[in-house]
Order: sequence, then C-alpha cells, then structure tokens
Amino acid sequence: MFNPSRDQVRQFFFEAWRKQRDREVLAGPDNVAVGARASTGNRRIMRFSFQDIVMRFHGSANYISTDDLTLAVNAAVTLQRPLLIKGEPGTGKTMLAEEVAKALKLPIFEWHIKSTTKAQQGLYEYDAVSRLRDSQLGDPRVHDINNYIVKGTLWEAFNADEPVVLLIDEVDKADIEFPNDLLRELDRMEFYVYETHELVKAKHRPIVFITSNNEKELPDAFLRRCFFHYIRFPDKETMERIVNVHFPGIKKHLLREALEVFFEVREVPGLKKKPSTSELLDWLKLLLADDIPPEALRSKDQKTIIPPLHGALLKNEQDVHLFERLIFMSRHNR
Ligand SMILES: Nc1ncnc2c1ncn2[C@@H]1O[C@H](COP(=O)(O)OP(=O)(O)O)[C@@H](O)[C@H]1O
Ligand SMILES: [Mg+2]
Repeated sequence: MFNPSRDQVRQFFFEAWRKQRDREVLAGPDNVAVGARASTGNRRIMRFSFQDIVMRFHGSANYISTDDLTLAVNAAVTLQRPLLIKGEPGTGKTMLAEEVAKALKLPIFEWHIKSTTKAQQGLYEYDAVSRLRDSQLGDPRVHDINNYIVKGTLWEAFNADEPVVLLIDEVDKADIEFPNDLLRELDRMEFYVYETHELVKAKHRPIVFITSNNEKELPDAFLRRCFFHYIRFPDKETMERIVNVHFPGIKKHLLREALEVFFEVREVPGLKKKPSTSELLDWLKLLLADDIPPEALRSKDQKTIIPPLHGALLKNEQDVHLFERLIFMSRHNR
C-alpha cells in the first residue's frame, strides 16, 4: 500500500502550489499551511494536518494508480478543489473518476462534453417547445413552469443527499468560453434559476474531476481554481501492471514481447496517432483470442514485416506505411 512519508507529502504540496501564483506553502512539524492572497488583499491561510491528507484512494483492483496520481487525487479531495486531469487519450482519465467513486463508495454523475455543449446545459434547460405544445393541447401542466425545467448533471449532483463524484469529461471539446462559464458554479457550488427564482445550492460539495485531452488551452482563471495533474504515459513497468489487471493470466513471455513491440511502435517518429493503453489492450485481446505465439510478434522472417493484427495499434494508413518503411530500412542496414 502506498504510504507516503511526511516529507513526501510536504514536498508534493510544495511543488503543486508553487506553480500557482500568489501561493505559498509552509510546512510545519504537524501540518501544512497553504497561504493564498484573496482578491480583497487579505491573506487566507488553510491548514491541513497530516491526518487530513490520509490517503483515501490507492488505486483499485481494476485501476493502477501511480504514487503521484494518488497524491493528486487525495490533495484535490482535501483542498476541495476540482482535479484537472490532462493526458493523452487512453491514459485512464475517465476511468480514474469512475474508480475513485467506486473506491470511496460514492455515486458518480458524469457529464460528457461535446463540441456543441454549453455550460448552461449542465445546470438546467428550459423546454419551451414542450410548454408550447402543452398549451396548444390545453394540458393543465402548462401553468407550472417547473414542469419544463430540465435538470442538468450539475443540478443532479448538487441535489444528492450524500457527497458525490462529479465528472466533467473532456472539457477541451467545448468552445473556449465553456470553462469560464462554469467558474462561479464550481467555486461556490450554487447557481440561480431565473425562471423559477430558485437558488440551487449543493447539499454537499462534490468531488469534481475534470479531464482534458489537451486539444485546447484552458483559460487562466479556470486553471487557477483547479488542482492539476498530468498523467504521463505509463512506463513499461506500470504498463505491465495495467495489462495484468485486464488479463491476469497472461503469459510473461507474450506480455514482454508484446510490450517490446508496442513501445517500439510508439517510438516511430512522425506517427499521426500513437497507440495508447486502450489500443494495447485491444491488441492483446486479439493476440490471446487467436493464440498467437510470442515468437510471431518479432519474427526475423522477412515476410512478416509488421506485427500481426496491427490494425488494433495503428489506425491510419500513413502510420502503417511509415512503420513498414522503418522496419524495412532497419532490416537493410543490419
Ligand atoms: N491506470 C489504468 N489501470 C487500468 N486500466 C487502465 C488504466 N489506464 C487506462 N486503462 C485502460 O484504458 C482504457 C481507456 O481509459 P480511459 O479512461 O477511457 O482513457 P481516457 O479517458 O484518458 O481517454 C480503460 O478502459 C482501461 O481499460
Ligand atoms: Mg476519456
């Protein structure tokens, strides 16, 4: 089990907060104090005892968490800040939120963002079309506007009677204003419904996860409010653990050869789309289903230039072509 020393925790907080302007971290013998200058000019100090920072999420039976990721999750929970998770697609960002919810035995509310998603949709929408139809049909429901307010994911999460996990997935898909439009709601965990003159306030502050594939830069004001973590692409050893979670019985030899090929493919310079964890898992599934022997993955035979079932790893013809050429050249130079 991951059990960081006080020095590690202190160092971590120090690193994490140093990156944010106007913040300083003072680590005493029994606690960590985080100072922040509020907009009023006053200094606000938050103190966390080392007991506050007890590790609650260690990864799970289905999810491999690295030490720095575990710390980031727990720090965000402790500080009650949204955790912004960035990383290549397929590095387990979405799954992280789901696994944290499972590990902490909390319900999860997921909001998957698309290019057309507006911040307001996460709060609520007013269904004017249904209301018009009902009024034409003479339905008595028409007199109560509450019948036409459709709750969004944030509202549902705020309404819950217990603490919940709220996932705002792929925030960078929406337009640039989207994150800014949610600042106040995420800061104060409340919003106003103008149609019904109602203030919706979270009964419990949700644990918020926000993921980004790094397609767009996020606004400064938004970043300042989040606790940030970048999931680095897993190294071989971590990847082995991840694979073992998905294929517990996999033969060591096959796994080693497959990882060797996988990381080789990833290193091909100029690939449009590097294969990620989920592609590796797909590929392994096929290899296992077809009972492909480990030797077949790295055959010296000239005819098998690229690994079997490579369609699971390389998803466009330029990349396949690039890879073939590289292997061809390396054979000639041998
Ligand atoms: N740390 C991990 N532990 C276990 N499985 C993982 C891990 N990271 C990625 N995976 C696998 O890769 C798949 C893709 O993960 P996902 O959360 O959808 O990635 P992302 O949201 O970053 O694009 C998951 O369904 C899971 O099977
Ligand atoms: Mg995802």
